[in-house]
Amino acid sequence: MKIDSSLKQHSLSLTDIIRQRITEENSISFADFMQMALYHPGYGYYSSGTHKFGKDGDFITSPELGELFAKCMAKQFSQVVNHIDDAVIVELGAGTGKFCFDCLVELERLNSLPNHYYILEVSADLQQRQQELMKNLPENLHQLVTWIQQPLAHEFNGVIFANEVIDALAVEVFKMEGNYQQMCVMWEDGFQPSWKEMPNELAEQLKSKDLVIADGYVSEFVPNLTAWLAAISEKLNHGITMFVDYGYERNAYYHPQRNQGTLVCHFQHQANFDYLENVGIQDITAFVDFTAVAEAGDECGFEIDGYCTQAHFLLSMGIEQMLGDSEDNYTNYYKNITEMKKLTMPNEMGEKFKVIALSKNFEEELLGFSFSNQLHLL
Ligand SMILES: C[S@@+](CC[C@H](N)C(=O)[O-])C[C@H]1O[C@@H](n2cnc3c(N)ncnc32)[C@H](O)[C@@H]1O
Repeated sequence: MKIDSSLKQHSLSLTDIIRQRITEENSISFADFMQMALYHPGYGYYSSGTHKFGKDGDFITSPELGELFAKCMAKQFSQVVNHIDDAVIVELGAGTGKFCFDCLVELERLNSLPNHYYILEVSADLQQRQQELMKNLPENLHQLVTWIQQPLAHEFNGVIFANEVIDALAVEVFKMEGNYQQMCVMWEDGFQPSWKEMPNELAEQLKSKDLVIADGYVSEFVPNLTAWLAAISEKLNHGITMFVDYGYERNAYYHPQRNQGTLVCHFQHQANFDYLENVGIQDITAFVDFTAVAEAGDECGFEIDGYCTQAHFLLSMGIEQMLGDSEDNYTNYYKNITEMKKLTMPNEMGEKFKVIALSKNFEEELLGFSFSNQLHLL
């Protein structure tokens, strides 16, 4: 892979910072390494000013393809906004802000604007980009958007939404060797993996998954997922939390054949597995165990309302009716058809991505799962 010199320098600076921490502590867990690689203020992949999204970046997400994804989600949100009082939307990890922009425009068209649209973004760089984009919204929509650094501290009703955020949370890497081993990172002419016995509290989290795996099996999990969900949803009284991400239900995630886990890096639209290299300039991500999300939801007092593939969800929301008129504007229609294919085809984003919805004091059947609801797989 070809890396220009300013990116190389950026990576070397972060390497020095992580190396310094390793020198002080001998080794650090992979989760701590990933947290620094992605979120170190100033040098972490998400915190720094590198491109990341779109064709000049490293990867492309559903909202970046066009407007259809946000339009479908807006239609789902409108069902919630119209059924409860004083609804707000809280989006976690808003990327470039495009989802928020398109969603608010569509919610206005549907006459279903929330009282507020909060963005909880951990990256200062992305927050700045989002703020720039939102300046192009009409004033009545712009004034609905508020950035927050912490989960809402007051009680609220409405929707919590995140697309491709759980896959960006730091994971622990484990190996089964009679008992659970934790991958740590040490320094020896570069970052190197080393293994030690998994600390008790994390081993307990793993054991509660009841995995049937052979010696030598390597995979990963998001530590303390329940605490994370509790923190963002504690003050939600009535409404839903919806996550969209690539991932599987537990049986498929920890399948015997997937014995090297799901960690992957993205650099300039190419995937690689060198997650201890090029720190700070490439994305590191892991697939999502949706059973773990459902369990965390259950522990946080949610009903688990829906689980299905992205394709089924978008079809339930009527994506094929949002393509425009081919005779009136063929260019736009063709662009939308291409986008719909990318979002729904099984070999593109249609099956790898799933949607899960959790609810609190919200009894309506969610429209997005009317075509298919596969809760039994979780
Ligand atoms: C892969 S990007 C997805 C961005 C956007 N949702 C999209 O679909 O284009 C991951 C996003 O999650 C944010 N993020 C990571 N951890 C987070 C956390 N704990 N809370 C809120 N946002 C987080 C990142 O800064 C980034 O904006």
